[in-house]
Amino acid sequence: MAKDVDKIFRKMKTLLVTGGAGFIGSELVRQAVSRGYRVIVLDKLTYAGDLERLEGVKDHIVFYQEDIRSPEAVEKIFLRERPEIIFHLAAESHVDRSILDPSPFLSTNVDGTSVLLTAARKYGVEKFINMSTDEVYGELGERGKFTEKSPLNPNSPYSVSKAAADMLGRAFFRTYGLPVITVRASNNYGPWQYPEKFIPVVILKAILDEKIPIYGKGENIREWLHVSDCARALLKIMEEGQPGEIYNVGSGEERRNIEVAEEILKIMGKGRELINFVEDRPGHDFRYSLDWGKIKRELGWEPTVKFEEGLSKTVRWYMENRDWLMRKREALESLWRKVYRRGEK
Ligand SMILES: NC(=O)c1ccc[n+]([C@@H]2O[C@H](COP(=O)([O-])OP(=O)(O)OC[C@H]3O[C@@H](n4cnc5c(N)ncnc54)[C@H](O)[C@@H]3O)[C@@H](O)[C@H]2O)c1
Repeated sequence: MAKDVDKIFRKMKTLLVTGGAGFIGSELVRQAVSRGYRVIVLDKLTYAGDLERLEGVKDHIVFYQEDIRSPEAVEKIFLRERPEIIFHLAAESHVDRSILDPSPFLSTNVDGTSVLLTAARKYGVEKFINMSTDEVYGELGERGKFTEKSPLNPNSPYSVSKAAADMLGRAFFRTYGLPVITVRASNNYGPWQYPEKFIPVVILKAILDEKIPIYGKGENIREWLHVSDCARALLKIMEEGQPGEIYNVGSGEERRNIEVAEEILKIMGKGRELINFVEDRPGHDFRYSLDWGKIKRELGWEPTVKFEEGLSKTVRWYMENRDWLMRKREALESLWRKVYRRGEK
């Protein structure tokens, strides 16, 4: 009985999700709503944000189109909604864009995080879950894994801005006692990902029978985590994670980029001749790999979606939601011209 009351009480909690109209944020919002939490979304709706992702839950959330860099806007939301849990996911998130222009990355990812942490400190929260990335650790060779104790060694303007935000959160825990929890997740994939990221780019280009740009020889290795598993991990961390702790969230599903592209082409029944190796991304990290034993051991979370199964469902989703993909395409042409122009081979 006491346990049930506790459960009901927990479900009454108010969650503020920044970046809730983004790829991972919207999956987190959908899962939190389905579990009965009260959810507030704060999102600026940059090119990467899209309310269509929240269509199915729009009557169950409160949405604010605001900028996390604005202390006035953020304070207004804290005052009005009194969130108990903060999930901070809003960010500039694309490495290639950070190489073209680092400044929005520093401003949103560092200044914006500082604004949110400051408001959380002023109004008080039970947990501030700060979404970081495996990229803050830097790159690995063919062997080894990063644990939560590995030093940070970020290499791109994106990962440097995320490392700064990550460390800022930890400083607020250490200095002010704000209950910050840091989450370092590996590469996510799944439905609704903006098609500037690797997997939806490959799918989009293959649908159009256009050349698929692959950096270098496609040998770089990423650890692929299905977005539904990532969101489940975030909720688990909210419910049972300890303030001040860091949790790596990975899958063990490591693949070379070329293997991922070939698998997608196979699923779609398209030929390998679509693959086009282009000059490598400057500073391209070779491999990321997380040791996520801590979250498994301490919180009992583990991923459930096997990569091959998740990938074929993801391809199917994009084929069925072709209109959404095509609507994003036009805006991407100029990015692709800048990013992949560097010496097509
Ligand atoms: N996608 C991945 O593979 C991955 C892996 C590890 C960590 N992360 C981190 O997870 C978080 C979410 O990633 P994603 O892939 O969903 O990103 P995304 O680019 O799809 O979404 C980011 C969201 O933040 C919003 N936003 C951007 N600037 C804002 C601002 N100034 N104020 C308010 N809202 C703003 C955008 O409108 C968008 O809805 C990010 O912090 C990212 O660094 C992503």
